[in-house]
Amino acid sequence: MKKFDEYAYYYDLLYEDKDYQAEASYIDQLIKNYNPRARTILDLGCGTGTNVITLAQRGWQVVGVDFVKRAIQSARRKADQTGVSAEFVVSDVTRLEKVDGDFDLVLDIGCFHSLDTRERESYLQNLERLTKPGSTFLVYCSIYSG
Ligand SMILES: C[S@@+](CC[C@H](N)C(=O)[O-])C[C@H]1O[C@@H](n2cnc3c(N)ncnc32)[C@H](O)[C@@H]1O
Repeated sequence: MKKFDEYAYYYDLLYEDKDYQAEASYIDQLIKNYNPRARTILDLGCGTGTNVITLAQRGWQVVGVDFVKRAIQSARRKADQTGVSAEFVVSDVTRLEKVDGDFDLVLDIGCFHSLDTRERESYLQNLERLTKPGSTFLVYCSIYSG
C-alpha cells in the first residue's frame, strides 16, 4: 500500500505522455461494438482517474475505485476541473464494501496483477457481485513467468 501511495504522488507525471484519449477511444469502441447497450463502468484501481474522466466525457456513467486516498483526491479534483460527473470511492478492490450495482463493464488497467492469489479470489467474488450476465470484464495485466 505504501508503495502505491508514493506512486500516486508521481503518477500523473510518470504517465503524462500516455495517450489516455486513444486508450478510452479503444475501450469505448470495443465495448460499444461488443455490448451496445452498456452504460455503466466500474474502473478498479483507477489511480488518479484519467480513464474514468475520459470515459465519462464520452457519455459513460463511471465509478472509479482505488485504495490510495491521495489518488482519489487527485481524481476528484481533476473531475471537478474538467466539469465531469463521475463517482470515486476509496476502497480496496479485494473488499469493495462501499460499492454496489450491476456494472456493464468492469475495467482493470494495471491493478489485478499486483494482487496475490488469495486477494485475487476475493476480487473475483466481488466481480461476480457487481456484474450480471452479459457484463464485460476488461483487464490489462502483466503475466510473469518463472
Ligand atoms: C498501474 S496503476 C493504474 C492506474 C489506472 N488504472 C491507469 O491506467 O491510469 C495501478 C493502481 O491500482 C491501485 N491498486 C493496487 N492495488 C489495489 C487494491 N488492492 N485496491 C485498490 N486499488 C489498488 C494502485 O493504487 C494504483 O493506482
